[in-house]
Amino acid sequence: MPNERESAGPSNSDQGSEVSEAQIAVHWREEGYYYPTAKFIGQANASDPAIRERFSEEHFPECFREYADLLDWDQYWHTTLDTSNPPFWKWFVGGRLNASYNCVDRHLPKARNRAALIWVPEIESEETRTVTYGELYARVNEFAAVLKDFCGLKAGDRITFHMPMVPELPVAMLAAARLGVIHSEVFGGFSGAACGDRIADSDSHVLVTIDGYWRNGQVSDHKVKADEAIARAAELGGRIDKVLVWRRKQGEYLSDTPMVPGRDFFVDDLLKDYKDRIVEPVSMPAEAPLFLMYTSGTTGRPKGCQHSTGGYLAYVAGTSKFYQDIHPEDTYWCFADIGWITGHSYIVYGPLALGTTSVMYEGVPTYPDAGRPWRIAERLGVTTFHTAPTTIRMLRKLGPDEPTKYRYSFKHMTTVGEPIEPEVWRWYYDVVGKGEAAIVDTWWQTENGGFLGSTLPALQPMKPGSCGPGVLGVYPVIYDENGDEVPAGSGRAGNICIRNPWPGIFQTIWNQPDRFVQLYYEKYNRDKNSTDWHDWPYFAGDGAMKATDGYFRILGRVDDVVNVAGHRLGTKELESAALTVPEVAEAAAVPVIDELRGRVVEMYVSLKPGYSASAEMEDKVSKALEIQIGKIARPKSVWIVPDMPKTRSGKIMRRVIAGISNFGEVGDISTLANPDIVDTIRHHVQAKKLAQGDVGRELTKEEREEIEAYGSAD
Ligand code: WT7
Repeated sequence: MPNERESAGPSNSDQGSEVSEAQIAVHWREEGYYYPTAKFIGQANASDPAIRERFSEEHFPECFREYADLLDWDQYWHTTLDTSNPPFWKWFVGGRLNASYNCVDRHLPKARNRAALIWVPEIESEETRTVTYGELYARVNEFAAVLKDFCGLKAGDRITFHMPMVPELPVAMLAAARLGVIHSEVFGGFSGAACGDRIADSDSHVLVTIDGYWRNGQVSDHKVKADEAIARAAELGGRIDKVLVWRRKQGEYLSDTPMVPGRDFFVDDLLKDYKDRIVEPVSMPAEAPLFLMYTSGTTGRPKGCQHSTGGYLAYVAGTSKFYQDIHPEDTYWCFADIGWITGHSYIVYGPLALGTTSVMYEGVPTYPDAGRPWRIAERLGVTTFHTAPTTIRMLRKLGPDEPTKYRYSFKHMTTVGEPIEPEVWRWYYDVVGKGEAAIVDTWWQTENGGFLGSTLPALQPMKPGSCGPGVLGVYPVIYDENGDEVPAGSGRAGNICIRNPWPGIFQTIWNQPDRFVQLYYEKYNRDKNSTDWHDWPYFAGDGAMKATDGYFRILGRVDDVVNVAGHRLGTKELESAALTVPEVAEAAAVPVIDELRGRVVEMYVSLKPGYSASAEMEDKVSKALEIQIGKIARPKSVWIVPDMPKTRSGKIMRRVIAGISNFGEVGDISTLANPDIVDTIRHHVQAKKLAQGDVGRELTKEEREEIEAYGSAD
């Protein structure tokens, strides 16, 4: 077996002629390639380069038959791609299938006794739970019977889940999918209020939750959030009829809140009446929505990304097969949360559609210590590992040598959710992957269903810090503000777009079709009456650069969204949360470059007359963000300032305070109505930061550009 590290190392073949060496050296050292091992290539699902030809543009859209053919269809489709109502693309039209059947039933003949899910509780002394495909079938059917007969749900209805990382979550998702009920899972770490917003927006009448779960060594009371969620939903005109409460521990109730008679029901009690019940999977049109996944945007209202059944499932099955290189006999661990799109696509639907074993872990990476993930990997024989840069950074910081102490062996690893620094990538490769695992850096979004940019692990070499080219059948392009293409190797960044539709693309924003068109297609649409997809590039909202080898380097969001630990938080959402504090007059959220979490939020507020700054007030603002959105939104600092820097028309100049928070440039302040405030704020904030030992660090060119552009979308 060749040692791929011999072939790694800087290769200069990639430096575009238009870019001077000096420019690269200053701003972006072009990284060398790393090659997968012969052992990996020998077993890979995609090892024949002909696959790239099959998915080349001349074979679009029929190339995606290959993905759809990974599924069992009740009825084959007649039209692969229907573009008659752009940009509401329809895939596999005329086809019918059931997602639950495809992820469970069809594996029974071969895999009844094989593990579908292995669940690892956070408390290490508690036993790991294995759910075989046979058992998953039974549990999904029984819960589907509860949803159907006890809750009266039917195809097209919505149901909200507010669940942490427990096996009951995939069971509930697959039960809903079995009935054609559209599920909307809200990340368990989100607050009750955030869940309530999503309940109201999706008009769900059933909420599925759990009494509590373990997080960082402690039980977190989760049921309390259901009461908050229902109250919030009611304020917005929503209505929950039934709350189904799973129990984290048999026979116990981990919450302090009372069960509301007639509204709240323990699932284990209900299931007694549905033991061994079988519910036939409902044959759904390919275009029927499978689920909603909410994400943040530039306005306060969350966007319910609506994903289809046929296109989505085909896309996650195909990308799981070729990019995650999943084989049924693998033990695949995607260390993400099912409450995000990554977990939907690459813990539940993709891996289970392929009939593999998918590992779920309840807790935090470093509980009880930074060796935990590697112990889990060793004990379960994990072959394939998938996580986000924020987790990798944390594990590297707290236990740089921990992986060497355990005898696991990964053949394949994924990074997802935010740009990964080349040094962090190299630690992942050398130490976590032990120089043996092929890495894919997968770029995509909640809206996309599955990967958009990545290398094919056996066929295209890795390059630290770059996700790679567009994936099979996805043709990205970088446009400047005028819609002109920014050429590969120019060293210039622009807006990355996808020229064509793909089966995993979301169908619309739930109940907001105009906003869907406006946010994702309006910017580069060439003719709004055209039914030719070539006229409708998809605007991803990320800045990116393309190298001469066709690899993309994703720089981050171009809108007012802060990517915290790989998850988007909308500026407006954060600010509205701060404004719920009665004393707060104005609020502005800005991103701060953070060593571990990529970006964190700093919150600037000014107070109403008669109130003065205090630590309590800062705390109140911080708490408000936690209550309204969740712990993930807790700001690094709250700065109470006498006034915000504003334009003459009264707009808060977020880039100015973002510059201050990052010890960067504040840029041109000549257009401000109150330029004097800038020095006052700078002095106040930076003096406090320095006193706390926070000296910032020199920003890279791209980071500088991001901070300087922040808020310009206003
Ligand atoms: C945003 C999407 C993808 C599912 C999890 C996050 C950033 C995502 C990468 C990557 C650089 C990345 C982008 C994107 N992003 N993956 N491999 N390299 N940046 O989903 O919350 O919808 O966020 O995350 O900025 O737009 P999301």
